[in-house]
Amino acid sequence: MKKNSILIILFAMFLFACNQSQTSKNTDMGNNNEIEKKIKALIAQMTLDEKIGQMCQISKTKITDELKEKIKAGEIGSFLNVEDDASKKEFQRVAVEESRLGIPLIYGRDIIHGYRTVFPIPLGLAATWEPEVLKTGAAVAAKEAAADGLHWTFAPMIDITNDPRWGRIAECCGEDPYLASLYAEALVKGFQGDDISANDKIAACAKHFAGYGASEAGKDYNTTWIPRTQMRNVYLRPFEAAKNAGVATFMCGFNDINGVPASGNEFLLRKVLRQEWGYDGMVVSDWASMTEMIKHGFCADEKEVALKSINVGIDMEMVSRAYIENIPQLIKEGKVSENLIDEAVANILRLKFRLGLFDNPYREVDKSKLLTEENLQAAKDAAIKSMVLIKNDNQVLPVKKTISKVAVIGPLADSPRDQLGCWVFDGKDDEVITPHKAFKDVLGEDRVLFAKGLEKSRTATKEGFPQAIKAAKAADIIFYFAGEEELLSGEARCRAFLDLPGLQSELLAELKATGKPVVMVIMAGRPLTFDKEVEMADALIYAWHPGTMGGPAIVDLVFGAAMPSGRLPVTFPRTVGQIPIYYNYKNTGRPGPREGLDIEMGNPINPKGYNSKYLDVPITPAYPFGYGLTYSEIEYSDLNLSAQKVKFDEPLKISATISNKGQYEATEVVQLYVRDVAARLTRPVKELKRFERVTLKPGESKTVEFEISSKDLAFWDNDDKYAADAGLFYIFVSKNAEENGLKSEFELIK
Ligand code: GLC
Repeated sequence: MKKNSILIILFAMFLFACNQSQTSKNTDMGNNNEIEKKIKALIAQMTLDEKIGQMCQISKTKITDELKEKIKAGEIGSFLNVEDDASKKEFQRVAVEESRLGIPLIYGRDIIHGYRTVFPIPLGLAATWEPEVLKTGAAVAAKEAAADGLHWTFAPMIDITNDPRWGRIAECCGEDPYLASLYAEALVKGFQGDDISANDKIAACAKHFAGYGASEAGKDYNTTWIPRTQMRNVYLRPFEAAKNAGVATFMCGFNDINGVPASGNEFLLRKVLRQEWGYDGMVVSDWASMTEMIKHGFCADEKEVALKSINVGIDMEMVSRAYIENIPQLIKEGKVSENLIDEAVANILRLKFRLGLFDNPYREVDKSKLLTEENLQAAKDAAIKSMVLIKNDNQVLPVKKTISKVAVIGPLADSPRDQLGCWVFDGKDDEVITPHKAFKDVLGEDRVLFAKGLEKSRTATKEGFPQAIKAAKAADIIFYFAGEEELLSGEARCRAFLDLPGLQSELLAELKATGKPVVMVIMAGRPLTFDKEVEMADALIYAWHPGTMGGPAIVDLVFGAAMPSGRLPVTFPRTVGQIPIYYNYKNTGRPGPREGLDIEMGNPINPKGYNSKYLDVPITPAYPFGYGLTYSEIEYSDLNLSAQKVKFDEPLKISATISNKGQYEATEVVQLYVRDVAARLTRPVKELKRFERVTLKPGESKTVEFEISSKDLAFWDNDDKYAADAGLFYIFVSKNAEENGLKSEFELIK
């Protein structure tokens, strides 16, 4: 920063300090009066144009002279997607050394599931049921991104969804608000640590605020209709958890919520975020989400966009230009008070001060921090824990390493970019270890017979089949890697069907016909429907898009060097026609049959009862929330409650015994669900309240203990009242949301 700027600031601070007492502003991201003083002193010197410049974010990868002039004039406060080191350094140099006040830039980037070391997609990480794994992953990503000169990630994405047609389900933390809230906290703490100015930490961003995952029909950017109780009881919960974890920024969504777009939503941005939650971090729009309010039909022009956006408190505008082109006129017309601008600028400057950018605007680039052995090991551990064993008939897994030859087949067996999954800008294909490579590393080249059979997941021609069948016939076992190519997953990548694309199913049938055992591994960014395929496979592992180390993770699992422990964080439908299908459904007045259906032929008067069901498919999912197998058999017994009647201010302790009756070590995810049987609003038939990962040796048993209280049973109602209701509750200690497992009950009493 220029010398005279420092003198001006010091003098302004001196004047300020001579005034009456400071109005220090407690910030829930750590009270720091010093920062507040500096903010006030700085804003006092800024012109209106310089203030508005801070509220502008530009997406640019490389520097240009025109941009340098804008930075110098104080017209830009932030960049996203700056890619090369020289540009990062030069942009910042111009801002700090050539602009009038020397305010540093902040660099943002989508670092969603890793930076150069790519972890499994967030939906895969959500299948670990281990928040610590997500925290570690975020910490690795932060360390790598900070070492590459970046300050801020647009993550965690914590939109709740139960619609696998929506491409962005890949980025989310699953369908349950309790589980997603734990992940939100873990991710924020992983990215930010205790001090975001540390040289291995970055600012996080809770997105997309809020309700984006309810996009109608699973189409991205689509309309959302969310009752206030559902918004509070489901969609807002992970965001409140992120706020309580100290997340430095929020990003609003694209969606229209009950007629009001998220970028102009006073209820969300003013009432909930600022007033109820007392949040004083920084809010950034999504990519042009502000000016899209014109297309939504919520604003007539960009002037109205600027007015509505600043009124609800969007501090920074991503890539569109409504603020810089309209705020001065709105102030001149008296429609916007400059105090609102000062508030927005204060939130932006607060972030930059907390990041330490004024003291250290140039983050030392240190490429040695990227792709270290430690980072790769963390990514492998995460991938192992994310994978879900769906089927394992006749203990075909784990396979002995003494096996003579394996066939590695399928469009995802050796496809680095597809294995990385969506939202990967900095991971490199040649750094990915695919299953094909991992099998060769373990067994040696000559024991691995490889043939893709299909070039991509959507390939619809059979010319690769003969080579694949030939490899299969010459091997002792077939590992078949199918699923979705990366292009089919992520933002604006929605699908109306969930089956395996292309001729993958046909290829599997021909592999099956060889009579060799088939282990199928599905890599995908969403739940797929594979009822035919699972019948043909002897074993099936759901690997999501597992990232850089997906290959070694899969190989460790199939050879038993690691044990499968993943559990589904979303419900898997039997068919797309069941959507939305989720575990925390309401019972209705005519609950349908959870067991299978056998509608007789002819014209029965009463088709299996007048209740909530389909005639052509069971109403149960293909695989429920919380589902996942181990290589062993786990038994649950001895459910105990510390009381049958529980007062509002008393804890209830729940215990159960978990036993490993099989021959392999196993990690079980013991899940505690409750049901509020009768309340002032109808409540879900099950709600996850606690869970614990328990690792047991063969023959070992452990007692698992949980504790809940009435705080865990409270919910919002239509009068905006948040409270639990006295009455009967069911307790379930189970291995997934569909099985009741061990069931008991208690009464909550006044
Ligand atoms: C995208 C996404 C958002 C992302 C932003 C910047 O459209 O909606 O999640 O962070 O733009 O890339």
